[in-house]
Amino acid sequence: MVRKVIQKFEKIESIRGELELRGDKSISHRAVMFAALANGISIIRNCSDSEDVRSTMSCFEKLGANFEFVNDSIKVFGKGFKGFSKPENDLYAGNSGTTARLISGILSAQNFESNITGDDSLSKRPMKRIVEPLRMIGANISVNEEGIMPIHIKPSSALKAVNYKLQVASAQVKSALILCAIHLDQESVIIEPVPTRNHTEKLLGLKTVNDSDGTKIFVSKKNYPQPFEITVPSDISSAAFFIVLALLTRNSEIVIKNVSLNETRTGVIDILKLMGGKIEIENLMEVKGEEVGDLRIFSSNLKNISIPETIIPNIIDEIPILSVAGVFAEGNFRISGAKELRVKESDRIKSLCQNFTRAGLTITEFEDGFELHGKASNKNIMFESYGDHRIAMAFGVMSMLIGNGGMVNDFESVAVSNPQFVAQINKLVNNNLNSLLHNAGIQNDQ
Ligand code: S3P
Repeated sequence: MVRKVIQKFEKIESIRGELELRGDKSISHRAVMFAALANGISIIRNCSDSEDVRSTMSCFEKLGANFEFVNDSIKVFGKGFKGFSKPENDLYAGNSGTTARLISGILSAQNFESNITGDDSLSKRPMKRIVEPLRMIGANISVNEEGIMPIHIKPSSALKAVNYKLQVASAQVKSALILCAIHLDQESVIIEPVPTRNHTEKLLGLKTVNDSDGTKIFVSKKNYPQPFEITVPSDISSAAFFIVLALLTRNSEIVIKNVSLNETRTGVIDILKLMGGKIEIENLMEVKGEEVGDLRIFSSNLKNISIPETIIPNIIDEIPILSVAGVFAEGNFRISGAKELRVKESDRIKSLCQNFTRAGLTITEFEDGFELHGKASNKNIMFESYGDHRIAMAFGVMSMLIGNGGMVNDFESVAVSNPQFVAQINKLVNNNLNSLLHNAGIQNDQ
């Protein structure tokens, strides 16, 4: 039984100091999966400690892989090509769409039957989007008539390489198909008209070619993973909450170390810079084909801008916190072309609009977005997380920016991506206090 938490936040004046965040969730999921697929021992350092990635590990444990936790690294004992064994029970993906969808691709190529289930939120999310492409490649996969979980997979003798154009701009769908195709001798070509995060392609070293149709991704058994070592860079999606808090408080300056700056994920930085945010990138380097760097963020005056719809897949997870930034920026925040938000961990358009209404803002809601008008009230407000980690953290930040602080109900959901959120905020607030006391010649004994 998970303990329900109402988290209280005081208004914050300034934050200061350096943060090292745990590994990017998308990269960690993939590192765990590819290590479990590889034949032998792989090492993952700075893996995400999120509930979502734990769900991935627990599914692969049930398939026969083993994980040993040594200090800040995980030693993974992978099973090799078709080396998994039939799980005794259903595989439980918890709240994690990435776990459920990517593992479906892998299981579609195995010689045993399996079922995948999830929590209440995941059980409402669309799964037909993976069933259709996986059936095109010959998988024997089904969901119920409403297109939702449980996912049922049987072995198939009809798997054949495909030339498939993705119908949904989703890295999860793309990756599910790649992870099935990686079991086939012949080469599949997956065409992606709209770019989405490309960690699967980068970690597996897949050949990609850009042309007028979009990106063509080539994959076959030749790309099957070998044991590897990786240090997962910090999660830019978790960093986004601290970035916005630093930008919108006065006299703040923070540094977030070793952040993943993969070009399919940095839209949030581009948008915040265009809004006037002072964000500097330092120590830029490349780790296993992924760009990594430190972010230095300073207090800034923000202005709302028109957010192009083409960037939506790149910023999809950051829209909750970007819209909080929009509340405190000059002009009105507006987002459109983001219908995908309706099928995330909660209906994020609804969750955002309802919380902004609680804060006294006037909202125009569209099917694919919303526009905000007015100013946030200074009353101490109780926001709802709707059991959605990114809504919880976005309104945690909003609470720290309004007159009398605020509260977020069911805040425990933050553990889905960043269990250390509150501790990290406290660290930045205390650093600021210490530096003020230091400047005044007083020692902080707390
Ligand atoms: C993810 C892809 C995105 C993102 C999710 C993680 C991934 O979903 O929203 O949080 O790791 O592949 P879609 O690709 O389905 O939009």
